[in-house]
Amino acid sequence: MPRTPSGHDVPTTGGSLSSARKVVVLASGGGSNLAALLAAHDKEWFGGRIVAVITDNPAAGAINIAHDAGIACAVVDPRDSESRAEWDRALAETVAVFGPDLVVSAGFMRILGPHFLKAFGGSTINTHPALLPAFPGAHGVRDAMAHGVKVTGCTVHFVDEGVDTGPIIAQAAVAIQDDDTQETLHERIKVEERRLLVEWVSKLLRRGYTVEGRTVRLGEAG
Ligand code: GRF
Repeated sequence: MPRTPSGHDVPTTGGSLSSARKVVVLASGGGSNLAALLAAHDKEWFGGRIVAVITDNPAAGAINIAHDAGIACAVVDPRDSESRAEWDRALAETVAVFGPDLVVSAGFMRILGPHFLKAFGGSTINTHPALLPAFPGAHGVRDAMAHGVKVTGCTVHFVDEGVDTGPIIAQAAVAIQDDDTQETLHERIKVEERRLLVEWVSKLLRRGYTVEGRTVRLGEAG
């Protein structure tokens, strides 16, 4: 069983590391974005491998998806930590065990803390179900509908210390229909979100990237 630097065992199941670029996925919920990444990660064009799935939620559907795919999976439950800071440290230590080149927050419903960002801030991306900087936070779909916008969508962006404020990598638009409910709209956004996430995780892995201020460009620094 892998151990964190402070000596905690990391409970994992399955998983094997390869020499390709390594990706750790953070997920709290059903895990459809995770499933889309897993459907792509063994293709040659993808440019990397998902080596572990980490969740904060012992009931996350993402756990079963990881198990079925034979990917290492660990739960870092905030209820096992005495403070937010301790959980932040435990999450960072658990992710570090897998030595990722890229961390993908795909429906991870907690704010990543300073300790995590110090270790992985430059290499952690998130997917958000709205066109940032509009409608950040946990209710991007609901807030866009409530505002009456006619077009919303999804954003893949780097994670910084703010809530959905980091440099934007890619976006896709989704029109809101008159008869949409929050659920129907979110489902259509998620179709675009999965496509966008897989496409851009692959591009970042294959081509590298630079971030200058708020501008993200593909390709290593020249
Ligand atoms: C996605 O829309 C994500 O942007 C949001 O929650 C949803 C997660 O979906 N934060 P899933 O768990 O990947 O199916």
